[in-house]
Amino acid sequence: MKDPRRILLVVSGGIAAYKTPEIVRGLRRAGHDVRCALSTEASRFVAPLSLQAVSGNSVRQDLFDPGEEGEIDHIGLADWADVVLVAPCTANLMAKMAHGHADDLVTAVLLATRAPILVAPAMNVNMWEHPATRANLEILGTRGIHFVGPEAGELACGWEGQGRMSDPAVLVEAVDSLLAPKTLIGECVLVTAGGTVEPIDAVRAITNRSSGKMGFAIAAEAQRRGADVVLIAGVTNLPTPIGVRRVDVGSAIEMRDAVFVEFEQSSIVIKAAAVADFRPAEAIERKIKKEELAGEGRLQLEFVQNPDILADISARKGDRTIVGFAAESHDVIAGAKRKLLLKGCDLMVANDISRIDSGFDVDENAVHFVWPSGEVEALSLLPKSGVSRELFDRIEKLRAPQ
Ligand code: C5P
Repeated sequence: MKDPRRILLVVSGGIAAYKTPEIVRGLRRAGHDVRCALSTEASRFVAPLSLQAVSGNSVRQDLFDPGEEGEIDHIGLADWADVVLVAPCTANLMAKMAHGHADDLVTAVLLATRAPILVAPAMNVNMWEHPATRANLEILGTRGIHFVGPEAGELACGWEGQGRMSDPAVLVEAVDSLLAPKTLIGECVLVTAGGTVEPIDAVRAITNRSSGKMGFAIAAEAQRRGADVVLIAGVTNLPTPIGVRRVDVGSAIEMRDAVFVEFEQSSIVIKAAAVADFRPAEAIERKIKKEELAGEGRLQLEFVQNPDILADISARKGDRTIVGFAAESHDVIAGAKRKLLLKGCDLMVANDISRIDSGFDVDENAVHFVWPSGEVEALSLLPKSGVSRELFDRIEKLRAPQ
């Protein structure tokens, strides 16, 4: 299992600093270890104590404070980081970074670090558009500094335009993207996620309980690693991961048709969708009225089997890598082994849906990787993003030339 990655959040004195506790929480949720360094002005907008509480680490503010330096000196802090996120980054801090200033803690750390730096600017639109800021942006860009945002919208100063700091979730995603190895460049990854919906009549349907979170996390990780990703999504309200092409479908038949369209050009297929095994034999176009059933008090429906998409594509696998998911409430491993043989894919990911801390509609999952050799790997409870990383580490090994 990977060690947590160490993220240093540098906060400068803009109003958007009030959002930084949310960034820290997002980074920690993604499994990272976080420390914060604040400029003197930053502490006017966000309480250092809040950042200390949410990060679980003491906050650094002063270059010359013997107590702070004693705990972790500024060079130690610069060396500690795997990634430095500067959010919000004011026009002033951008200028200082561009010109190599080191007259306070944050500028000294930014000059000393060898870690990749990701900058999230936040300022008034006129400051952002000023030729001086454009020139600084250019200098920083040529030095390999990464940028995220700013976004256009309503600004705290009352102006409308570009200058809003990107949302905390976008910044967390940008950090994860920067950390991800670009090991899937050239691969076309097809992911299915969410439950299918099988219509009964004009208003009713049956579906599977699936939030789609696991499949969406897999699509996001594939994208971070540099793959071209298409996500075929059943019912879910989740936002599309950045950079991922999404195709929405309803029924299992629609999902099969969409998978067949994308299958030819895909090299890795991950079927995390909860596909309904059966659908009503005939979908009634109008609404079945309660009165029509009067007296009997029963509604009998006939179901027919849906196509097994995973089995169908595994039969035409070629040199693709195909992964299935088996959600089971009992006999988890035995069920996954049986499905692996039956469907003929390269790996089955088994999850026990009887656990309340993992599986459906939660952000974490405890899975087993079940291999055709009979080997079973048990993973500990991980965020779904962590499960996705473990999954792609295995897939990449499978695809590496032997
Ligand atoms: O429903 P079941 O437990 O058989 O699902 C195991 C795997 O098969 C999952 O990866 C699911 O997406 C896939 N599947 C499918 N078509 C079906 C049923 C399941 O592709 N009709």
